[in-house]
Amino acid sequence: MRTFSVRVLDDAFELSYISNSATNARKTITIVCDPDIPIGESLEKIREKLAGIDFDAAIIENPLEYDFSDTIIGVNHQRIDIGLALSNMLNLPVVSQETADRTGLQTAIENKRQYNQWHLDYYGEYASKRNYGQEAMLTIGNGFYGLRGAYLAANADANNYPGLYVAGLFNQLTTPVNGRDVVNEDLVNLPNAQYLSFSIDHQEPFTIKQENIDDIYRSLDLHTGVLTTTMLVSLPTGHRLKLCAQRVADMNEWHRFAIHYELTPLNFEGTVTIFSRIDGSVTNENVERYKNFASRHFDVTETTVNGRDAILGGQTKTSKVDFAIGTHLTSQELTSTTTIEEQVDDDVLEQNFSFKVQTGTTYVIEKAIAINTSLETKTDLNDAVANELEDAGFNDIVSHNAAFWTHVWSDSDIEIDGDLTAQKLTRVNIFHMFVSASPISNPHLDASVGARGLHGEAYRGHVFWDELFILPFYTLHTPDLTKQLLLYRYRRLNAAKDNAQAEGYQGAMYPWQSAQTGDEQSQLLHLNPDSGKFDPDNSRLQRHVSLAIAYNVWLYVHTTNDTEFLSQYGLEMLLEIAHFWSSKAVKNTSTGRYDIRNVMGPDEFHEDYPNSDEPGLTNNAYTNIMVSWLFTVLHKMKTNVSAKTWQTVSKQVGLTDKDFTRFDDIASHLTLDINKDGVIGQFEGYFKLPSLDFDKYRKKYGNISRIDRLLKAEGKSPDSYQVAKQADALMAYYNLSFNTINNVLSTLGYKMPGEYLTKNIEYYLARTTHGSTLSRIAYSELSLIDGNMDQSFAFFNTALRSDYYDIQGGTTAEGIHLGVMGAVLMLEIRNYGGVSEFEDQLVVKPHLPESWQRLAFHETFKGVTYGFAIAHTNITVTVDQAATLQIQDQSYTVTPDKPLTVTTD
Ligand code: BGC
Repeated sequence: MRTFSVRVLDDAFELSYISNSATNARKTITIVCDPDIPIGESLEKIREKLAGIDFDAAIIENPLEYDFSDTIIGVNHQRIDIGLALSNMLNLPVVSQETADRTGLQTAIENKRQYNQWHLDYYGEYASKRNYGQEAMLTIGNGFYGLRGAYLAANADANNYPGLYVAGLFNQLTTPVNGRDVVNEDLVNLPNAQYLSFSIDHQEPFTIKQENIDDIYRSLDLHTGVLTTTMLVSLPTGHRLKLCAQRVADMNEWHRFAIHYELTPLNFEGTVTIFSRIDGSVTNENVERYKNFASRHFDVTETTVNGRDAILGGQTKTSKVDFAIGTHLTSQELTSTTTIEEQVDDDVLEQNFSFKVQTGTTYVIEKAIAINTSLETKTDLNDAVANELEDAGFNDIVSHNAAFWTHVWSDSDIEIDGDLTAQKLTRVNIFHMFVSASPISNPHLDASVGARGLHGEAYRGHVFWDELFILPFYTLHTPDLTKQLLLYRYRRLNAAKDNAQAEGYQGAMYPWQSAQTGDEQSQLLHLNPDSGKFDPDNSRLQRHVSLAIAYNVWLYVHTTNDTEFLSQYGLEMLLEIAHFWSSKAVKNTSTGRYDIRNVMGPDEFHEDYPNSDEPGLTNNAYTNIMVSWLFTVLHKMKTNVSAKTWQTVSKQVGLTDKDFTRFDDIASHLTLDINKDGVIGQFEGYFKLPSLDFDKYRKKYGNISRIDRLLKAEGKSPDSYQVAKQADALMAYYNLSFNTINNVLSTLGYKMPGEYLTKNIEYYLARTTHGSTLSRIAYSELSLIDGNMDQSFAFFNTALRSDYYDIQGGTTAEGIHLGVMGAVLMLEIRNYGGVSEFEDQLVVKPHLPESWQRLAFHETFKGVTYGFAIAHTNITVTVDQAATLQIQDQSYTVTPDKPLTVTTD
């Protein structure tokens, strides 16, 4: 094992490592830290000095003493958790010399490696968007609600945003803007019920102020779902305290969460008063650019305080959803003689009680919280909340959560050996997948997964085509959850049919942005802040959202063989969606092919043709490929249901034999624009657009990922150039296997030249700015199909870090990007693990990244749960029932009693 040590001096780091193992010669390097630059930047020099040498771990010789982390250091009067920083930077565990001395180096490293793999930690006080982003990453929840990881004593301000959202709880408000009424439907930020703070000797309650916080450490334990915040506070009065707060969402009794709050006076005795609030004065203000729109979504209808209990009732202003949020306080300091003062002011309900404290003693207060809404609770809400609170102790929740998380981590974990960061962030993604939706709560809800989870207010909590990136992971691990999420869409099938009819089409046209009722929630006009004028917003023309829904229905049925779902719901959805596309396709008499007009592809930079009055584009390649695929699989699906069901559902949808013949005709005659090199044009006419000098723009602006905005600011339009926000023409290659797309192309009658994919990737990469986090994931997969592993892994790594590093510079503040999180997991399983679920048997062809020693996961396919452990030279498969699968082009039958190991080198 090779390690290096860091000794911290007042203003420098001293690195040392054995440079020659034969002679045991040590090399020592001193890095002087400039006091004027942030310490994190000085650490960059460590990377530079050690470049090219492989180390297994780092040892910090003289860290400061803290109980929450053994790798915090101080240099130039700045503190940093060098362990977190170096671990991120060099992808290795970092231990303290003291721990290594105590447990032995090997054990210390192994323990730290384990710790890092299961914890998302942040050290230090951050402000503004950065802190908002960390709150989003530290969100806990259970599919029913999401609670951002804000400090308990925080109120919404520029640095803190304690949001609380219930899935599917939306409200519409109208704002007059520049002479127009703009209607927005938002996922409602509910009252802040987590609030807890204190005061000393009857002074003002403590509020979050940077100058009063000496130290702050936040740690989300992914294994248990417990979020711990440890804060060392120094008040201007000289009082010093330690506050340790733990929060946990109840994954089973999903109306509840609980807080365990410990307060320790470090240098004083006196009277402490605890303040607990349910703050019903909150508004939706997580997203700065929405600030001119109305944001007060509910009225407080009731406030009740009864000793330790408090309930705040409310009703949303226009959707008229009732809710009740209750809290219950427990503490040894709350005795029968304690007076609980209460106060209700401006929709804020407050309880406080006081007790005497001694230096060095820890005082514990627990707060249990329950939320019920009229969406899922049909009994009296106050009674329901009171019942929930009877049994919502912090420890009870932690212990009965254990079974839930044990299940998640045994069924859905992805183990990656050899890449600590990938392992940690993979588990962060899995964790947030189950915060955003859960097999326990979702059967009782009418909701699907929003693009930004239940973690913030961007995109107003709406549901997009991002389901395409998210649902497949559930499908392979908790298929019943996928079914629940698809039912959200099924319940909105009529709305989608109305939507189609309103635009003169048949069948079902799902909205680009969906919320409560399934009507279109995208804006028709968009206020341009520069001109103050309303510009048309065509994003709703991304009709491909219906194809994403069809894809998820197909994948669910294909993976689970759930023919009951297909007969009852899925087939109807598929046929209605197909009917829509059939009504949208128009035979072009001059080409003999079908055209699909007035649509947008996933690339949102292209909304229409320059100098055209017509909205949208013609023959978007992604759309046409997926429509052809849909019609082809529909044909095959006929065999999955009884002839009677097929006939009944077809009749219900209004489809005759003639329609099915037309589907087949469209499937083989849609139009693509393919040039002589085999490059697939993003839409008809794309090749005629001028290309843009990206280098010039990069030189001018640096980051050009939102080149659309830069062009608009220059008075130009992205519509006029060959620029793309994200994968579009090639997006279908992410969804389906290379073979399937090649079959679609050949069904359409297009003969592709050899190496055409390489040319397409080169062509579009040179024109794509990755303005959406969903872009890199598609290009990672494309690069892999193309045999370019380095490029694939580079895109994967950026996608993996999207939210952890908030790569778009502030958008994580407004919620995680659940699409990229889900897609990263699928890329690991489907592409690097190489387990493809597209055929009738699993097909296994791994492409393990060089640095990964082993990749292991489970998935359930057609009723069989498979375990895969993939190394560079072998693949081991276990099953819970006998099954046949293909590994490296050979067929194998595996039985439960005998794991199969195939050597692959
Ligand atoms: C992307 C869309 C995506 C939406 C919500 C946009 O930036 O371009 O593809 O659906 O974000 O995540």
